[in-house]
Amino acid sequence: MPEHADASTSTRFLDDVLHGLAQSPKTLPCKYLYDAKGSRLFDRICTLDAYYPTRTEQAITTDNADAITKRIGTGAMLVEYGSGSSVKTRTLLDHADDLVAYVPVDISAEHLEKTARELRTRYPAIEILPVCADFTKPFALPTPTRAPRRRTVYFPGSTIGNFAPDTARSLLARIAAQCGAGGGLVIGIDLQKDTAVLEAAYDDDEGVTAAFNLNLLHRINRELGADFAVEAFRHVARYDATHGRIEMHLESLRDQHVTIAGHRIAFAERETICTEHSHKYTLDGFARLAATAGFTIQTHWTDPREWFALLYGEARST
Ligand code: AVJ
Repeated sequence: MPEHADASTSTRFLDDVLHGLAQSPKTLPCKYLYDAKGSRLFDRICTLDAYYPTRTEQAITTDNADAITKRIGTGAMLVEYGSGSSVKTRTLLDHADDLVAYVPVDISAEHLEKTARELRTRYPAIEILPVCADFTKPFALPTPTRAPRRRTVYFPGSTIGNFAPDTARSLLARIAAQCGAGGGLVIGIDLQKDTAVLEAAYDDDEGVTAAFNLNLLHRINRELGADFAVEAFRHVARYDATHGRIEMHLESLRDQHVTIAGHRIAFAERETICTEHSHKYTLDGFARLAATAGFTIQTHWTDPREWFALLYGEARST
């Protein structure tokens, strides 16, 4: 998200907020958690003991870097969805075999340019072609100077977990079309596990995740001139085993009203706003979902406790 949003961006934000709070139950799109403050808090979440996904995925990547880069292929173009600062990617670029181009795709232009400059210095043989785009919508891929032999999409972080299964399927289907028949997919998935472990990861003792979630109300106050009494809400994270997902909510601690751009919105005591879903899969469950989107999962890498997995699949011809 740009720091200085233009008029159309903030109109969109206002529309989305009013629309979400008019629903029953109330909801807000999780992408708005990531303003500058929210992104910094998320980076801190990634370093917490309780938040196992980041370090587990990094360990899986380090331990299997040769096998993963073999699957990416020789002379390939690697496209990363939601690249951020491309930390895990460096492990792959260090091991890659004659990679033609690396295409980091991210919504934050600032992040992208800085990362691209660093990568060009460190990997002079790989063409670095950043794309600033919202990957939930169609976007065009750049054409590398040297023709790649294939395309592989790298989609780490279990970001796919933020999407409900139907939306995840359509996103995967677009990725399959984008890499073409025989193209590859390396995707990070958070696996189903003990409820206590999951809930602790989304409600840490240091309160960083709570601050991350509550920051959304501060952001609405700041950018939309609303008057949320932020101290009258609390962070809640719970695992819904039926849907296999963590739900993050903001719970109202009393009956209260909030005014946003002239709209008065009522909250009952204990009423919640759902701010994020984070879906957890089984290996088989995700393979089945990917299959309905045109990918055949061929192998996976996981940690000893099987808390997280990287899956490799290939796009079938359609
Ligand atoms: C960035 C979507 C992968 O779902 O684990 C972390 C976001 N929210 N703690 C996740 C998040 C609260 C994270 N993803």
